[in-house]
Amino acid sequence: MPRKLAAGNWKMNGTTGALAEARALAAACPEPGVSVLICPPATLLSRLSDLLAAGPITTGGQDCHGATSGAHTGDISAEMLADAGAGSVILGHSERRADHGETNGEVRIKSEAAIAAGLVAIVCVGETGAERDAGDTLSVIEAQLSGSLPDTITPATLVVAYEPVWAIGTGRVPTLDQIDEVHTMIRANLRARYGAETGDEITLLYGGSVKGANASEIFAVADVNGALVGGASLKADDFLPIIQALEAS
Ligand code: PGA
Repeated sequence: MPRKLAAGNWKMNGTTGALAEARALAAACPEPGVSVLICPPATLLSRLSDLLAAGPITTGGQDCHGATSGAHTGDISAEMLADAGAGSVILGHSERRADHGETNGEVRIKSEAAIAAGLVAIVCVGETGAERDAGDTLSVIEAQLSGSLPDTITPATLVVAYEPVWAIGTGRVPTLDQIDEVHTMIRANLRARYGAETGDEITLLYGGSVKGANASEIFAVADVNGALVGGASLKADDFLPIIQALEAS
């Protein structure tokens, strides 16, 4: 069985005061029945990791460079994330692909660097609204999978997140059938590439406007093993019901 994971992506939100939300979440779910992860901005990673170190909630980065060190002003290596307490890193998020022009090839190199540094690589894929309207959803995601995922992975080092770009931060969510179609394809793709046993064990997340109100029905879709949550991960009161829905799924 894939591990169930509720992952929060704080994006470029949060200064010192936001640590209180993580403290509240840790107090509210001291023994979650699923894996819980918070990916804060890099400026909070070390402090958040220290704050959560005694409990089961883990921390992650939102991006890393493909190199281990060097002349890359403003960038952060996977090794540095691990040193700051991270256990995972989100890679190839659509906002990075759009804002920074990240290609599938770059995401693959970053994923390899993350795994080499001992991190779980959470690789994001997803179609734009225009690609869905054109009927290209599955082919776009297949190309992202084949280009972005490393050849050498285990179910403990790779998580794949399906995040339709048009559903992120918009309040628009695909139908359950649309989520099912894509997750079924991703599972088949992973089985074909890595072998049935490995492919079946990899955690697949859905992301895009997940909230307490829609989490249960999304988690009931086959091959949805958790969520990558943006806006609703910023407040403990909003993230907690999603974690509880995953526990109950
Ligand atoms: P959202 O973001 O939950 O705010 O839609 C999800 C994401 O971008 O990971």
